[in-house]
Amino acid sequence: MIQNYAAYTEEDFDIWKILFEKQVKNLEGKVHPKYFEHLDALKSVLNADKIPDFNELNKVLETGQGWTIEVVPGLIPVKEFFYFLSVKRFCSSTWMRSRSQLEYLEEPDMFHDIFGHIPLLMNKEYSDFTVEIGRLGYKNWENEEIVKQLQRLYWYTIEFGLIKENDQTKIYGAGIISSYAESNHVFESGVNRIPFDLKECMTRDFVIPEVQVDYYEINSFNQLYDTLSQLKL
Ligand SMILES: [Fe+2]
Repeated sequence: MIQNYAAYTEEDFDIWKILFEKQVKNLEGKVHPKYFEHLDALKSVLNADKIPDFNELNKVLETGQGWTIEVVPGLIPVKEFFYFLSVKRFCSSTWMRSRSQLEYLEEPDMFHDIFGHIPLLMNKEYSDFTVEIGRLGYKNWENEEIVKQLQRLYWYTIEFGLIKENDQTKIYGAGIISSYAESNHVFESGVNRIPFDLKECMTRDFVIPEVQVDYYEINSFNQLYDTLSQLKL
């Protein structure tokens, strides 16, 4: 599949700009500084002014950790999903949400997939961890239990992870980064920020409510790969 760039409407461009500008402002002081550092490195091809053209974005993205974007129609079979991760191809949809969905979406759109996920793939430690999930998932794709464990781990880290450094909690999960409501919600009282535990993340089922109640907090991006690489799957 390819991104049909000519098909984007003026309304799509407007929605992209609204979401991008609002969320960059909102994430100030909340997201891990590496996120903004990488977003800045990508700014010639990933900015508020236009919907990113994947061909252009790939050229810059690839210079980081070697990732490119794989266009997918939506959810794809786990075997393929893990395979693409293992070879540094990040799956993204190409559709944009409508104006009535600015605040919350049930299915990931391009804003979530690109704005939420892509910048941190420029980060070596985070990238290594993502590849390792892919490698283990592809290797074990016929083992339902291992697949489930890796999906849970992906959920509690890459989608909804928090990171605590120097006693300060910051966001790094793409599901939070791409959501105005959730990126504020994670800092509210009543939210549980639990120290990251690999085994616990892999065995705990997740639900898909509007926002999460429990979040796992890592202490460095290194911790992700280090703990996962010790597993013998
Ligand atoms: Fe996602």
